[in-house]
Amino acid sequence: MDMIRLDPPPELAVPLGDTMYTQRAIRRFDPDRPIDDAQLELVLDAASKAPSGGNVQPARFLVVRDRSKIEAFGALYYEAWWAKRADELGWEPGHDIPADSPYRMAALLADEMVHAPVVVLAFSTGNARVAASSVFPPVQNLMLAARALGIGSVLTTLHPTVMERVHELFGVPDGVGFHCCIPLGYPRGGFGPTRRFASADTTFWDRWEARPPWG
Ligand SMILES: Cc1cc2nc3c(=O)[nH]c(=O)nc-3n(C[C@H](O)[C@H](O)[C@H](O)COP(=O)(O)O)c2cc1C
Repeated sequence: MDMIRLDPPPELAVPLGDTMYTQRAIRRFDPDRPIDDAQLELVLDAASKAPSGGNVQPARFLVVRDRSKIEAFGALYYEAWWAKRADELGWEPGHDIPADSPYRMAALLADEMVHAPVVVLAFSTGNARVAASSVFPPVQNLMLAARALGIGSVLTTLHPTVMERVHELFGVPDGVGFHCCIPLGYPRGGFGPTRRFASADTTFWDRWEARPPWG
């Protein structure tokens, strides 16, 4: 049995509120600030502490550090991202995205993935239908722990056209379900503010559409 960390590591002893309130999508990574294995162990340990249905713990993480594999994956990610846009909007790769489009920033990630210092792929074993809801709590723990260390991340998905090649690239067996990928790196620039709905607008009290006391 491997050693399981029971006490929280001192590196994560930063106020939880600070990490939650400043976490945001980071898509530009500083190529001169690598992430070391000890930091990755911390964030993956944090992921392993998350809840899962029946405590079955179906989440599996594949950490990609090898530059040539990140480059190969980056090319697949670019293809996948534009395949989603082709499905939805009929856009070709490199389409001139309008300045006010929500896809403008995401398109940046399609270009930047290849430069990420680390990419984490989140999978699950077992029943795929129920697994997703037990994978995203660990993913959120991972991203918050990364934020606590000053490391940026963004959650993103792929497209069916590339999945076979992704499985092949990393030797992932059939029957293992892919859920999302999370590039990690120190941000080029700061974390910046987020724009979120007020909780009073997303919370109902005892009855649908009834305002909470702070609404
Ligand atoms: C399910 C999911 C899918 C996402 N897919 C993408 C994506 O394909 N590309 C991307 O750049 N960001 C993606 N994101 C990140 C969101 O765009 C980001 O969290 C959101 O816009 C808030 O950005 P902010 O944290 O900078 O405010 C995804 C996030 C989630 C939760």
